[in-house]
Parts: sequence; C-alpha cells; structure tokens
Amino acid sequence: MKGFQRLVLGAIWDESLAEVFDFLEKPMRQVEGILQKAVQSPVQDMTAMALHLLSAGGKRLRPALTILSAQFAGEINSRTISFAAAVELMHTATLIHDDVIDKAEIRRGRAAVHTLWGNEAAVMCGDFLYATAFNILARDGDIEVIRTMARTSSQVCEGEVLELQLAFNPNITELQCLEIARLKTAELMAAACKIGVMSTGADGQIASALESFGRNLGIAFQIIDDVLDLEGSVEEIGKPVGSDLIEGKVTLPIRLALDSLDEREREIWVKRISEHAITPGEVAELAKFAKEHGILEKARSVAKKFADQALTDLQLASTNHENSKQAFAWLKRITQFVVQRRI
Ligand code: IPE
Ligand code: IPE
Ligand code: MG
Ligand code: MG
Repeated sequence: MKGFQRLVLGAIWDESLAEVFDFLEKPMRQVEGILQKAVQSPVQDMTAMALHLLSAGGKRLRPALTILSAQFAGEINSRTISFAAAVELMHTATLIHDDVIDKAEIRRGRAAVHTLWGNEAAVMCGDFLYATAFNILARDGDIEVIRTMARTSSQVCEGEVLELQLAFNPNITELQCLEIARLKTAELMAAACKIGVMSTGADGQIASALESFGRNLGIAFQIIDDVLDLEGSVEEIGKPVGSDLIEGKVTLPIRLALDSLDEREREIWVKRISEHAITPGEVAELAKFAKEHGILEKARSVAKKFADQALTDLQLASTNHENSKQAFAWLKRITQFVVQRRI
C-alpha cells in the first residue's frame, strides 16, 4: 500500500479514489514533512499533543483539495505544498478546540487531546497550531492568502459560537443549521480550494469558482457528518454515535426528524431538548426513527444538492487544459465520495 493511503483512517477512503491517491502521494508526502517540522517546539508537550492527532491520520481532505485546486488551475508548486500544510494545521487546531467544546472523548479513533493533557493545554495547542499555520503563510508573504485564511479562522469561530448559541434550541431552522455548517466547516474547504488556485497565480475568476466549489462541498460534507453521527458506528466514524444531540446540537437530520414526528410526539421532544434532558437511549430512539422513516435519506439528498452545485461550480471553471481535465475528474470523484462516505 502507498504511503499516503496508509495515512488515512481505515487505510483508504474508497477504492475508486486509487488514481487520485497515486497523484497525491508525492505532494502529500511533502505536506507531511512540513507538518512534522512545523509542530516541533522546545516545549515537549506541545509537540506531543500536535503529533498525537497528526499521526492518527485523518483523511487529509483539505490539503488534498488545495493540491487538486492548484492542479485544476495550472500546476502544483512549492507554494501549493506549504499552503496545503497550513490548511491542515488550521484544521487540526479546529479539531482540538472542537473536542474541548463538544466534550468529545475520541478523535480519529484515539483519545482526544484534552482527555490526555487537559483542557487548558489543549486550548493552547490549538492556538499554537493556528499561529503555526499563519507563520507558514507569512513566510510566503501573499497578503491576499493571509487575509483569506484570517477571515476563514474568524468564520470557524463564528460557526462554533453560533452553534453554541443555538444549542438546546429545538426551534432552530433548517437555514440556521446550514449556516452553522457553512461557517464552521465549509468556509475552510472554500479557502483550501481558493488558496490552492492562488498558489499558481491563476486568475481571480478560477479562484472564485473553486472557492464556491469548496463551500458547497463543505456544506455537503458537514450534513453527511451529521447523518453519520446518527447512523454510523464508533468503528466507522471514530467517535460515539448520537453525541450531537446529547450536546444539544440540533443538526439538520435531527431538525428533519423532529419535523416529521406527529405534533404530540414533537412537543415531548421539544420539551426534553430545551430542558437539556435528552438521554443516550432517547437519542438512539430518535436515530432509529430517522433511519426507519427515510429521514437520513432526506438529509443525504440535501447534501447531494450541495454536492451537485459544487460540481456545477467546477464545470463552469473547467478548461480543456490537460491538468484541468484531470483535476476535474478527481475533484468530481472526491465530491461523490463526500456524499457516499461512511468515514
Ligand atoms: C472533521 O473533519 C470535522 C468536520 C468538519 C466534520 P474530517 O472528517 O475531515 O476529519 P479528519 O481530518 O478526516 O479526521
Ligand atoms: C466540525 O464540528 C467543525 C469543526 C471542527 C470546526 P463537529 O463538532 O460537527 O465535528 P465532529 O463531528 O466533532 O468531527
Ligand atoms: Mg465535534
Ligand atoms: Mg462541534
């Protein structure tokens, strides 16, 4: 098995991505080299925390998007590689902070950083990784790239806080669920694609198209993440099932499930949610209902709509250039994977 494939959870995302993995292997190896170096610190625990998560793998989807977006717009180069590393560092920071916020104990199949080192150190490690990402970007010196990533960091924070603001609120709307997904997840994917294009010096129109592609893909990705929280197994998703609602997060599939209950039932759930009284048994019950009544399929079809829009964005920007055609096919395959994935 190839090096990059070994990095990802469960070895490989999906067999049909073998060709894109072959292409990504060399640049991703370079990205991994930068990541390892970037997290070295004279403070032992800092490096230990960062490597704990980085060496657990993960899909490395965002740096893959940066690399493929560069290929789509022209040719990958050394800037592409450092931007891809910065994107993954920022993603790693958000995961460490997110697990503190969500009180999640498992990440990438391992103990979450805060469960081993404590919340205080985990928060600082996340901050360290943000700063490290910006250090890499500052060394490159492109102020537009720095601005893009700074805005993205703000949006991730806004998404996480908006989610907290709406936690235990059973009246959250579908639109609000989608706004949370956009801010906390999709904007980083949008930026990953945009700065991939920017690394090649290609024109702003391609950067905007790929940014929009990444945003729509990211919303689809988060909806599927929310579906997997209800239907996956701990082995597949590397975290306990049903934890969103326990934490008060009324995600899109949960919103859709509540909407399809009869009124009397819905009122009981609304009361239980707003009283912070939901138990794991009740979440399992709602998950079963969602599975049996086609709610998860309905949520998947909303994700599919965003994925289709992502492909339209991509189509509009594609050219007859060989690299563009190749990258188009691979990004399309990744988009299909995002809506079908179980990891
Ligand atoms: C997890 O992202 C956080 C979300 C945005 C849902 P991934 O599922 O891409 O996490 P890794 O990097 O593969 O572990
Ligand atoms: C994902 O949040 C977005 C960020 C990490 C900022 P979630 O809380 O939905 O992600 P998981 O399910 O823990 O990976
Ligand atoms: Mg979480
Ligand atoms: Mg969260």
